[in-house]
Amino acid sequence: MNGRLQGKVALITGAGSGLGKAVAQRFAAEGARVVVTDIADEAGRAVAAGIGEAAAFIHCDHTVSEQCNQAVAFALDRFGALDILHNNAGGPFTGSFETIDDELMERVLRVNLVGVLKMTRAALPALRQSATGNPAGACLLFTSSLQGLKAKPNFSLYTVAKHGIVGLVRSLALELAPQNIRVNAICPTVTETPMLQAFLPGMANDRDEAMKRFRSTIPLARMPEPEDIAAAALFLASDEARVITGVALPVDGGQMAM
Ligand SMILES: NC(=O)c1ccc[n+]([C@@H]2O[C@H](COP(=O)([O-])OP(=O)(O)OC[C@H]3O[C@@H](n4cnc5c(N)ncnc54)[C@H](O)[C@@H]3O)[C@@H](O)[C@H]2O)c1
Repeated sequence: MNGRLQGKVALITGAGSGLGKAVAQRFAAEGARVVVTDIADEAGRAVAAGIGEAAAFIHCDHTVSEQCNQAVAFALDRFGALDILHNNAGGPFTGSFETIDDELMERVLRVNLVGVLKMTRAALPALRQSATGNPAGACLLFTSSLQGLKAKPNFSLYTVAKHGIVGLVRSLALELAPQNIRVNAICPTVTETPMLQAFLPGMANDRDEAMKRFRSTIPLARMPEPEDIAAAALFLASDEARVITGVALPVDGGQMAM
């Protein structure tokens, strides 16, 4: 039976852990060949090895243009095309705005926004090429966050970056529509991954209290798991979403409805 991404080639940034890892595994299970990129080599290699022949790992710090170009070239060389770019890599930030020094400001925005811009730019020629051969188009997908659509205190830099991604999605959706490249974002609420540990101190005094508090704010009373985020990414990346572009999709158990 054909999978929902049969024959596609996807590159996923930050796929050595958490949400990116779940996306890589799901995309491969649906027939895609997957380029796993990360700065964490051991973790990235392990994800690719776990998937098998349909996956390959390349080190790529998405804040470095040259490495983004190399990752795209690697996808073309290894799998012959690039149909889907999932800009997923990012890093945490919590803290009071007034404590932010220049170094922290630049680092958080570089990892969560500038790297996303660089990787996108690097992939566009290959995505354009892919779109010419597929009536359903090529796909640019981003992991923003619920913090890309709303805000809470002490997440300023992260919120700026994630809102920036949503702005980029809307802008590129219009700019790239004539080239049949669809541009969408998923906006997950708090999901249990290694990054969550970094966010907890900004939210509550201890882990159990924080988890209880998260759950109490979710109408469906269920925290998403990485697989739930991967399922949303799969739909947007698949040809089933061929008329969907410019969307920032909350994956949040109903929080945006409140
Ligand atoms: N976990 C959540 O609650 C949550 C909610 C909303 C959005 N997100 C977003 O989801 C994405 C994935 O987060 P996660 O929770 O899976 O975190 P994670 O820490 O498990 O994974 C992030 C991965 O990105 C990699 N990475 C970091 N900097 C990089 C760089 N410069 N270049 C390439 N790779 C880099 C890390 O090595 C890591 O493997 C992030 O963009 C994050 O902001 C997470």
